[in-house]
Amino acid sequence: MRAALLHAVGDDKLDIRDDVTLTPVGPSDVRVKIKATGVCHSDLSVMSGVLPMPLPVVPGHEGAGEVVEVGDHVTTVKPGDHVIVNWTPACDACPSCSAGQPYLCTTYLVQSFSLARFRFGGDTPAFGMTGCGTWAEEIVVPWQGAIKVDSDVPFEVAALIGCGITTGVGAVINTAKVRPGTTVAVIGCGGVGLSVIQGARVSGATKILAVDPLTSKQELARKVGATDACAPDQLTEAIGALTGGRGFDYGFEVVGRSATIMSAWQATRRGGDVIVVGAGAMDDMVPLSAFNLLFEGKNLLSSLYGGSDVRRDFPFLANLWKAGKLDLESMISSRIRLADLNDAVAALRGGEVLRQVVLF
Ligand code: APR
Ligand code: ZN
Ligand code: ZN
Repeated sequence: MRAALLHAVGDDKLDIRDDVTLTPVGPSDVRVKIKATGVCHSDLSVMSGVLPMPLPVVPGHEGAGEVVEVGDHVTTVKPGDHVIVNWTPACDACPSCSAGQPYLCTTYLVQSFSLARFRFGGDTPAFGMTGCGTWAEEIVVPWQGAIKVDSDVPFEVAALIGCGITTGVGAVINTAKVRPGTTVAVIGCGGVGLSVIQGARVSGATKILAVDPLTSKQELARKVGATDACAPDQLTEAIGALTGGRGFDYGFEVVGRSATIMSAWQATRRGGDVIVVGAGAMDDMVPLSAFNLLFEGKNLLSSLYGGSDVRRDFPFLANLWKAGKLDLESMISSRIRLADLNDAVAALRGGEVLRQVVLF
């Protein structure tokens, strides 16, 4: 089959090849024919080494498709079912899962660092990003990694729910628990940031400030629910104009850099919540003083995968979309083929595009 491979960190180009195979489906595994997959910033972070993965690796973690084969022990899905790929399959047994934090389960994450399910050029093993690797025509995942979705949800919509939407809307609903009538600032308006904005709109926030250097992103942000938008160098002015200098109840960081975490901190009022959604680098230190951490009373929250339990949240978000509450169509800037992935990666680096969705 065809898949896109990254051989080394820093490689500019993916190796898109037709001689890729999969290891056999184990008793608890599911084989999924990928029908749609998005290009998310985390894929770029794997290519640049910001998010370390074993190599060679098939990137891609935001995907949906159709089940083609299941192992003997699998009861949750059957061939023909439509599924969304879950990039943090939960084991239901580890301390994180037992504490109600399936998005922090490491059981399968650890497994995905040692289990290479792809083969290429004969018998050379390759890993899948976070155990998935949706930039391939098919993948094999543990059954917890394939969540059933209604078949009337288009694959491209389902794919976006697989990462960007769940991460962004989940950060608002699960992590921050944004209340109606409150004010929200969102730093970074890519696919994930625009999902945060939509989550804030659905939650009834009355002021939603979108911050992004690109005017095209500011315009899209307004289209999906931001009440105001500005460039990063206009943030202080916007805080003054919109909150009387007090700051917003919630500040979301959706870029993945210490500098933008500080922007979110600055945008948030005393006693408000600062939510880190972006995935930054290991050596990018956040310069917060011990004094300010205590005396400004702000809560610094981490939101990995939107703090979601995807078994509940994938169907929940699909239903929100069906009810017309989420504008997922506006999130797709182009539909492409797997062969175009190198151009898509370059375009996302450029910043002007939103979600580019590969259709198979
Ligand atoms: N202030 C505000 N926005 C910024 C800044 C800045 N200083 N610098 C860049 N941006 C904007 C870009 O213009 C772009 O619109 O951040 C946005 C990032 O968008 P994408 O590249 O589409 O990234 P996305 O897929 O949304 O992911 C964002 O969330 O899940 C994580 O790993 C992911 O860290 C990444 C983050
Ligand atoms: Zn677990
Ligand atoms: Zn992602």
